[in-house]
Amino acid sequence: MASEETPDNPARNGTAARLAELRRRRDELAAHAGSDAVRRQHDKGKMTARERIDALLDPGTFVELDAFARHRSHDFGMERNRPLGDGVITGYGKVDGRKVCVFAQDFTVFGGSLGEKYGEKIVKVMDLALSTGCPIIGINDSGGARIQEGVVSLAYYAELVKRHVEGSGVIPQISLMMGPCAGGAVYAPAITDFVVMVEETSHMFVTGPEVLRTVMGQTVDREELGGALSHNTVSGNAHYLAQDEKDAFEYVRLLLSHLPSNNMEDPPDYDVTEPAGLTEADLALDTLIPDSPNQPYDMRRVIRTVLDSGELLEVQPLFAQNVVCGLGRVNGQSVGIVANQPIVQAGALDIDASEKAARFIRMCDSFHVPILSFVDVPGFLPGLEQEQGGIIRRGAKLIYAYAEATVPMVTVVTRKAYGGGYGVMGSKHLGIDVNLAWPTAEIAVMGGESAVSVLHRRAVAEAEDPAAERTRLREEYEQALCNPYTAAERGYVDAVIMPHETRASIAGALETLRGKRAHRLPRKHGNIPL
Ligand code: HXC
Repeated sequence: MASEETPDNPARNGTAARLAELRRRRDELAAHAGSDAVRRQHDKGKMTARERIDALLDPGTFVELDAFARHRSHDFGMERNRPLGDGVITGYGKVDGRKVCVFAQDFTVFGGSLGEKYGEKIVKVMDLALSTGCPIIGINDSGGARIQEGVVSLAYYAELVKRHVEGSGVIPQISLMMGPCAGGAVYAPAITDFVVMVEETSHMFVTGPEVLRTVMGQTVDREELGGALSHNTVSGNAHYLAQDEKDAFEYVRLLLSHLPSNNMEDPPDYDVTEPAGLTEADLALDTLIPDSPNQPYDMRRVIRTVLDSGELLEVQPLFAQNVVCGLGRVNGQSVGIVANQPIVQAGALDIDASEKAARFIRMCDSFHVPILSFVDVPGFLPGLEQEQGGIIRRGAKLIYAYAEATVPMVTVVTRKAYGGGYGVMGSKHLGIDVNLAWPTAEIAVMGGESAVSVLHRRAVAEAEDPAAERTRLREEYEQALCNPYTAAERGYVDAVIMPHETRASIAGALETLRGKRAHRLPRKHGNIPL
């Protein structure tokens, strides 16, 4: 139909005017980039929501949704301030050519707080990610529920959380924490697969310092209460401590490169340029294990030897360092690494290490990433603190995670696999497909010293030369039981290999295990001890 022209404004409803109106509204959106609030954001060393999306996605791929959405709130003078977009930018685009959905909270608008319209926007983009099977990346910079909008804000956080739960194990979900995040802005990300924080500018707390001071009378430094370092080293709530925002985006891109877009796909395969024959690094493994069982070595050396280009993308590298978790590739195929780390607490498992590894294993299993375990574990860390902290319940998560996983799994025992540590750390009995051991492996209930103390305390005490008798008994025990062959005899270990054969053996095992099928009894879901 032709546009209606009026005598006083001939083009008011014409096509040109309508196009101009869209241009004006777009300009209004763009004008925000020059506002004082944005300058304050930059002064804090932070990018704006829009700049962050540009920094994360492939150039020119972002398509925004609901750019003109505004809140409908009338309380507390809100009707006088109805910014376009309502404080969150949502849409879809590509990372390394693969589709992702994204939302970025804008701290410059109502402190990035979530109200009704804002919530609706995130729900819409999350539903899009779920229905099309692509990762959702949330860039969080928010004071949580928008106080002025009351219960509606709370309701939308619950809606968000419901979707994060629906998406758990279906699509990769990654949270970037890029400012002072409080309340719902931390509950919701906590459910996602990965939480990335930025040094100094990221904070996460259920309740911010100001509210804490008012309600509890406590004055706590923001950094201590929920700084990036604190969450990466102490609480374990974060998976990576980025040096700056660019570093955070790079980490997210690397994470995505190891994961499928959803649980109906396999992770992407990459072309391989790995050497086929033995390398110097392979041969160096033959001299890695010290003669003394008490002397540590860095398990990362084994891991890097096995992975393509020696590249390991660690997950939670600063937390529970007695276990190393991370992603890498073997002959171009994504793998998840779970490894005891002898240089930290002798590699003993404690609550934090068990929970870190268990969650990582479940993430890998959800997304068809095979699991490679490297074992040198003297057992669970003994002590009052661990027992009272719930090591029984919380350590059980690790054995549960292994036993539940159905992805291809390969375990290599390099040295100690004692007691509970043997059973838990990817033993044959949990359903691991290929179990390998080095000749230096000691698969036993406990080490020689402890065994002699339990079994021969009286004999040692009554001996003419207790020290010599102790040594004799220890050597006798170690000779009989601290080796890989007793386990190999029973088929608990499939092969005892030279350390230099590790890379080739793992590559061969993973190749064979491609397409592995596993069947489980039907059930609603298991009841992992939480
Ligand atoms: C509305 C908020 C807000 C909120 C901050 N602002 N949080 N507006 N609702 N939740 C506004 C401030 O009023 C301020 O507006 C602007 O954002 C910047 O905030 P500042 O306090 O000046 O910034 P800063 O000093 O950096 O401190 C940031 C902060 C702090 C640590 C996030 O603002 C804070 O503690 N906010 C409250 C956090 C909180 O307790 N939220 C819990 C909500 S309950 P002006 O106009 O002055 O610039 C929740 C439960 C969800 O989320 C339930 C899920 C199931």
